[in-house]
Amino acid sequence: MSGFWRGCPVDTMNRMRFMPTWSRCGHNDSQAAGRHGTFAAMSPPGPAPTIELRGVYKRFLTPTGEAYTALRDLNLEVQPGEFCSVVGPTGCGKSTTLALISGLEPPSAGEVQVFGKPVTGIDKDIGYVFQTDAVFPWKNVLDNVAAGPRFRGQNKRAAHERARDWIARVGLTGFESHYPHQLSGGMRKRVALAQTLINNPRIILMDEPFSALDVQTRTLMENELLALWSASGASVVFVTHDLEEAIALSDRVFVLTAGPATIKGAYQVDLPRPRNVAEIRFQPRFNEIYQVIWEDLRQEVLVSYERAKRSIAA
Ligand SMILES: Nc1ncnc2c1ncn2[C@@H]1O[C@H](COP(=O)(O)OP(=O)(O)OP(=O)(O)O)[C@@H](O)[C@H]1O
Ligand SMILES: [Mg+2]
Repeated sequence: MSGFWRGCPVDTMNRMRFMPTWSRCGHNDSQAAGRHGTFAAMSPPGPAPTIELRGVYKRFLTPTGEAYTALRDLNLEVQPGEFCSVVGPTGCGKSTTLALISGLEPPSAGEVQVFGKPVTGIDKDIGYVFQTDAVFPWKNVLDNVAAGPRFRGQNKRAAHERARDWIARVGLTGFESHYPHQLSGGMRKRVALAQTLINNPRIILMDEPFSALDVQTRTLMENELLALWSASGASVVFVTHDLEEAIALSDRVFVLTAGPATIKGAYQVDLPRPRNVAEIRFQPRFNEIYQVIWEDLRQEVLVSYERAKRSIAA
């Protein structure tokens, strides 16, 4: 060990290596928390980002007619081919962030850009795996997976051929004629994955896609996802409650604050690829990264938990 690192306590060293990227870009805390670019999650220099949110606010009207701010001055960039995860306490605004990127919801203020252009509606180059099951219950597996190409005008024969290929890739060969209610939760998630990836999206948005699965199935699917993603070159925004999952999968992890959500920190995950998510969790480096991000996330989870306790008591 040489120069700057020598004599640095291990903990301090680790914190510096994994500091949020805005900090590593030369900002200090007070600059980063300044009026304008609050905690901007800066990316490493490179090509133009695939996704860019600048000073984004999102307000909703509550059932009582009041305005509720879900997102506050949110700044986020995702690079071409980058796998990013978003973690934050429940109800903080993770799904809302994906809804804005997808064009399902407009921002109340600020700018959302994909592929260098403002988002004005739903883009066919964006695939979205929703938090809840979003397969068509009245279609069998083959027709569910073929739905995207069919909507895009491909004839049935060609669409089915592609769908069979994707069904094989997600390990569902033999289940083409099954309907969603005849599948397990894990199998339905595989259908949703194939249904999204068959369209070759350049951006894949995933909202807690594996949260309802048992640990073993989940690990298998995480590895499958990494294999499919690395072959696709797509940019991914993956929302999860599970920090271990976020680190195992990602190049970068964004931590959101308790609502209204803004970026609290953005952390590079410099674990080697290809990764086996079942094994990478046991690497000492994984643990180091986990501890630094968890320290950030824990504070926000506590804020959210205290709020929930107060509202129950009130
Ligand atoms: N259409 C809507 N109308 C009113 N409020 C909304 C709407 N959509 C979201 N919200 C509110 O915005 C906040 C953020 O919601 P969001 O679904 O983005 O949270 P989340 O981080 O995805 O939560 P979870 O982890 O539980 O999935 C919540 O307080 C929610 O009640
Ligand atoms: Mg959500």
